[in-house]
Amino acid sequence: MISQDTIASIFDSARVEEVVGDYVTLKKRGVNLIGNCPFHDEKSPSFTVSSTKGIYKCFGCGKAGNSVNFMMDHEQMTYPEALRYLANKYNIEIEEKEQSPEQMQAQSSRESLQIVNSYAQKFFSNQLLNSDEGKSIALSYFKERGYSIETIEKFHLGYNPSKWDSFTSSAIKEGYKEEYLLKAGLTKGEPSKRFDFFKGRVMFPIHNITGRVIAFGGRILTNDKKTAKYFNSPETELYNKSKVLYGLYFAKKDIVKLDNCLLVEGYTDVISMHQRGIENVVSSSGTSLTADQIKLIKRYTPNITILFDGDVAGIKASFRGIDMILKEGLNVKVVLFPDGEDPDSFAKKMSKPEIDDFISTNSKDFIRFKSDLLLDDAKNDPIKKAELVKEILSTVSVITDEVKRSIYMSECSSRFGIAEKALYNELNKILRNNFKTERRGNDYSRGEVEVFEYKEEPKAERKYGETDLEYLEKDLIRLLVNYGEKEVVFFQESEGEEKEEVTITVSDYIVHTLENDEIKFSKSVYQKIFDHYSKLVHDEKPIEVRSLMLNPDVEIVENVVSLSSQKYELSENWRVKHKIYVSTEDMNLKFALEHSVLALQLKKVEINIQDIQNKLKAGPDDEEVEKLLSSQLTYIELKKVISDKLNRVILK
Ligand code: CTP
Ligand code: MN
Repeated sequence: MISQDTIASIFDSARVEEVVGDYVTLKKRGVNLIGNCPFHDEKSPSFTVSSTKGIYKCFGCGKAGNSVNFMMDHEQMTYPEALRYLANKYNIEIEEKEQSPEQMQAQSSRESLQIVNSYAQKFFSNQLLNSDEGKSIALSYFKERGYSIETIEKFHLGYNPSKWDSFTSSAIKEGYKEEYLLKAGLTKGEPSKRFDFFKGRVMFPIHNITGRVIAFGGRILTNDKKTAKYFNSPETELYNKSKVLYGLYFAKKDIVKLDNCLLVEGYTDVISMHQRGIENVVSSSGTSLTADQIKLIKRYTPNITILFDGDVAGIKASFRGIDMILKEGLNVKVVLFPDGEDPDSFAKKMSKPEIDDFISTNSKDFIRFKSDLLLDDAKNDPIKKAELVKEILSTVSVITDEVKRSIYMSECSSRFGIAEKALYNELNKILRNNFKTERRGNDYSRGEVEVFEYKEEPKAERKYGETDLEYLEKDLIRLLVNYGEKEVVFFQESEGEEKEEVTITVSDYIVHTLENDEIKFSKSVYQKIFDHYSKLVHDEKPIEVRSLMLNPDVEIVENVVSLSSQKYELSENWRVKHKIYVSTEDMNLKFALEHSVLALQLKKVEINIQDIQNKLKAGPDDEEVEKLLSSQLTYIELKKVISDKLNRVILK
């Protein structure tokens, strides 16, 4: 048990801004510091740290606490683990109070595993560096591979002797419980015949983000093909393989500093690169990257560079995983190493500047890399080429940043010699499929889904205090002011007849639809602007915004000016959310127009329904109730019709 005095001095020394600052980039704002919350995804910072109060608080998700809480919450540490970590960080000697057997018993299983792993690491290191067997077999092996003593010590490399149970028996003798040796995967076998799982292997400890050993990889010393080259610890309460990146503890500082994370395949690649002074390197330990590992990287940088050794089949197998990285919003670059080389071998032959130079000159954007590779396969086979285009577009489809995506689209167009419009058609198909697949799991009845999502949407761009209704009105006025004179083509379907093409202006469409529904704007300035357009439409005058700018009403002018500068902004967000992408302004326009009108209609209907319900609550007489209920029914039906239309617009 850690003594109260020690705990007190830990709290005194562990400055919250420093503890949090290891994980979050903080900037000064007033007396506080502010950064992006590490507990939830956010784009604008709402995570506040007060050094004077010694606490942090996120105004987005509500997480709050002191340095110790932060470590517990962020690193899933127990209270004693957090204290020990901080004590170590601040060089505070821990005064332990003797533990009774009961207290030992009560220690959490996690902590016991931690202690066992920590003992094992020291045992293995000691064997490697100080035992005869270790020195002659294992240390010489590492030296042959070019590892310096500093490197061996930094990564806590070790050796598990080849004798049947040297580690297990030593651990038992030291009082470590067999239960945890087994649980940690270090010991195997029947009760009567326990043995070391890693016997005869060189040991690569796996550290968590705070530098504690949570698992091991053990490599055989020979090139014997009969047993696996590496054994790895099993998953435990401490070690979740998919949430750990090998080397991250040693790399995180440089990842932040260089704003890039290099990803390699294995333990030895990481170590050799570090030894050469390239320290922003981590490994996913031979498997393809998981979403959790990506999120881990994302805490430190949005940029990731994957270093591949030249096995094309292996590279192709990893494509899906890389799509996942893009989906998380990271920028992915790829470096292909020369045939027969991996980062490990390369780092041994080359100097640091040479490696830096090689990586920077050979980094290719992932989508470019992928299309180069597949294009090489497809050569001149048109069928293969069509497949390839779809394949590339499906990768482009996971990118949520519209600017980035449109750059790829125009690049694909010139590279494959396919019109951008055709590519967008194909992309939309993929997106709609994705969208439908994603929705399939949902429990909502069909018509409700979009309405539900839609309602959420306006918040993003909305001014503080603006209601749903004002926001929707504003969006419609925005279209009027910016595109009033533009023409849009609609297909009118009347029963039994051919589809008829109708071309009308945006003003025409808005004025007629709203007047038909007798919709009035709740904000008077919007109504005034609308009236202006309505007059132009009815008088069949040319539609132009200029005369509005000259209006003596300052409020009108201000609104028109401000809306003119928001050409795309307002509609951008929901379009991204609904994953609908169009190539030209005109296609956008028709879509935005229909959507905006329908959304306002829907809102008006909802308000009417709400009104009726308020009236019903006020306790009217029977006759009145009858009337209210019947008009409520009309509105509910209308609501359904409009919702359906809105759905169709969105999924068109
Ligand atoms: N790996 C594993 N089990 C195996 C083979 C590989 O867990 N049987 C993991 C290890 O994390 C390894 C990584 O996959 O580091 C990459 O495999 P490989 O390239 O074969 O190993 P290297 O790390 O390059 O090891 P070495 O250079 O010693 O061959
Ligand atoms: Mn290797």
